[in-house]
Amino acid sequence: MKKIVDNKNTSFDFNSKYVTLNNGIKMPIIGLGTWPFSNEDAEEIVYDAIKNGYRLIDTAAYYGNEIGVGKGVRKAIKEGIINRKDIFITSKIYASTNHNKTIEKSLNNLDVEYIDLLLIHEPGYDDKGLYQAMEDYYKDGKLKALGISNYYTKEAIEEVLSYAKIIPAVIQNENHIYYQNNELQKYVQQYGIVIEAWYPFGGRGHTKESLNHEIIMNLAEKYHKSPAQIILRWQLQSGYIGIPGSQNPNHIKDNINIFHFELSDEDMKKITNINENRRYENW
Ligand SMILES: NC(=O)c1ccc[n+]([C@@H]2O[C@H](COP(=O)([O-])OP(=O)(O)OC[C@H]3O[C@@H](n4cnc5c(N)ncnc54)[C@H](OP(=O)(O)O)[C@@H]3O)[C@@H](O)[C@H]2O)c1
Repeated sequence: MKKIVDNKNTSFDFNSKYVTLNNGIKMPIIGLGTWPFSNEDAEEIVYDAIKNGYRLIDTAAYYGNEIGVGKGVRKAIKEGIINRKDIFITSKIYASTNHNKTIEKSLNNLDVEYIDLLLIHEPGYDDKGLYQAMEDYYKDGKLKALGISNYYTKEAIEEVLSYAKIIPAVIQNENHIYYQNNELQKYVQQYGIVIEAWYPFGGRGHTKESLNHEIIMNLAEKYHKSPAQIILRWQLQSGYIGIPGSQNPNHIKDNINIFHFELSDEDMKKITNINENRRYENW
C-alpha cells in the first residue's frame, strides 16, 4: 500500500528555527539532550535552558529523568516563560509486556497531557506491537508525532514501514562528523522523515576528537565561533536536528547561539569529508 504523508518538504526554516514534520507538526531544529542528568539536575537544567531560548527537550524513560524534565518544563510554564504549545518534548521507550502501560508511564512521569514526539528507543523484540500502541495514542492526541531511534539501514526502516499506518516523522540516530550516514537521510526523504542527531560531539569521553579536529578548529577561528557552534551549525545546515547535551550554562547558551552565521558550501564540504563511517556505540 502506498503510504501518504502530509508534508515531504522538510527543509529547515532558519528564521523560525523550526522544521515542519511529515504530519504537519512543527519541531524546533535545535534542542537540549538530557542524558545522563538526574531528576534534580534535569529540572534545573531544563528550566534554565528554556529561559535561554530552548524549545526542544530530549529525554527517555531509560534516562530516569522524565520526572525532572517535566518539572522543569512545568516550572517554566507556571512562571509564564512559555506556554505548553511552545515547548517540544521528546521521549523514548522500549517494548514491554504492556505497551500501553509503558506509554502511560512516560506521560505520567512527565506529567503532561501529551508528548510531542515519542520514539521507539531502539529496535527490539516487539517493535510492531509497540509502534501500533503508539499509533493508538497518536490517534487519541496524546502523542503528537511518532518516530524511531537507532535504525540505521534502509532495511531496518522498510521493516517499520511494512506495519506502520502512520509513517514515522523522525529517526533519532548517532550522527556526528565521523559518522554521517547521509545515504539514510537521502533514502528517507521520500517519506518526509527528518533525522535527529545524537552525540553531535561524539558523546562524553570523546568530545575532544571532534572539538579539537583541525578542520573544525580552523573553521572556528575563521568564523569567530566555538568548535561546538561550527559542528552544530554544520549539522543543521545538513538537515539534521541537533540535541547537544550539556550542563554547563555557558555551553548551553553557546549551543543555541548558531543562527547569526552561515557556513559556506565549501566549508560544509570540508566537514562532510571528515566522515569515516565510524560510530562510537553499537546499539
Ligand atoms: N537515542 C539514543 O539512543 C541516544 C543515545 C545517546 C544520546 N542521546 C541523546 O542525545 C543527546 C546528546 O548526546 P550526549 O549528550 O550523550 O553527547 P554530546 O552532546 O555529543 O556530548 C556531550 C558532551 O559535550 C560537552 N559539551 C556540550 N556543549 C559543549 C560546548 N559548547 N563546548 C564544549 N563541550 C561541550 C558536554 O560537557 P558540558 O556538560 O561540560 O557542556 C558533554 O560532556 C543526549 O543528551 C541524549 O538526549 C540519544
